[in-house]
Amino acid sequence: MAVSISVKDKVVIVTGGGQGIGKAYAETLAADGAKVVVAEINAENAAAVAKAIKGSGGEAIAVQTDVAKIDSAQNMAKATLDKYGRIDALVNNAAVYYGLKPAPFWDLDEADWDRVMSVNIKGIWNCCKAVIPQMIKQGKGKVINVSSTTAFIGAPFTLHYVASKGAVIAMTRSLCKEMALLAPEGEITVNAIAPGLTFSEATLSIIGSPEMAQPYLQQQTLKRQEVPADLAGAVLYLCSDASDFMSGHIMVVDGGVSLY
Ligand SMILES: NC(=O)c1ccc[n+]([C@@H]2O[C@H](COP(=O)([O-])OP(=O)(O)OC[C@H]3O[C@@H](n4cnc5c(N)ncnc54)[C@H](O)[C@@H]3O)[C@@H](O)[C@H]2O)c1
Repeated sequence: MAVSISVKDKVVIVTGGGQGIGKAYAETLAADGAKVVVAEINAENAAAVAKAIKGSGGEAIAVQTDVAKIDSAQNMAKATLDKYGRIDALVNNAAVYYGLKPAPFWDLDEADWDRVMSVNIKGIWNCCKAVIPQMIKQGKGKVINVSSTTAFIGAPFTLHYVASKGAVIAMTRSLCKEMALLAPEGEITVNAIAPGLTFSEATLSIIGSPEMAQPYLQQQTLKRQEVPADLAGAVLYLCSDASDFMSGHIMVVDGGVSLY
């Protein structure tokens, strides 16, 4: 039996799709034929990504979205339904990561702590509340949450961020179990991807220079920098029918550091 990993004509929302890794997800999904909703707080970046996708013959819309606000998440779902009539997959990629200032846990700013929790955790809760009921109506849908391998291996000086990514794993597992009770007739899957240290603009904004990542790179079995495109295949697979019987899984993509 032939199995194809394809998202052709699937409607996929990518939160935080305006730059970095989310942009790579949006571009890859669209190149494979998905209709992509770039749901991003930075309206200019969202519009630029959607425009570039359309310019290359793909299909996308930009919807300015603040995932930390339930009204905005609901508007994201409504705009998607108004334009495309269904939602096949939700990639919960938006997070407070760019520009985070590393500091010992006792020096972390309380406002930063609250912002990280509100976007990285509550944002996923909000988007799931806005989108999963529609998936239940459809009888099928795929949620892909973005965690981080820092939740497995720990990382100094970003305690708020690492804690939030641990919560993403716990939420993924619990939402997976809830689907059995809330949508027993449906096939709603909830999985996560856990990237390793990836050389996006955001990572460089935090570590300063690529040399700072040398000790981490030495732990990889694949001896080159991980880049956003390295993660796109895993997300494409989790959005496609090829992963239909997988739920509650955390897919690590980190060049062989954490053998989880
Ligand atoms: N880069 C890495 O090394 C790495 C490693 C593990 C996990 N991750 C995760 O991958 C994802 C993407 O990382 P990245 O490196 O591209 O980071 P990034 O900070 O560049 O991307 C995050 C995106 O989310 C958007 N965003 C922020 N707050 C938002 C909100 N309230 N509503 C909607 N959008 C919002 C940002 O504008 C940005 O486009 C994040 O979830 C990050 O935690 C990254």
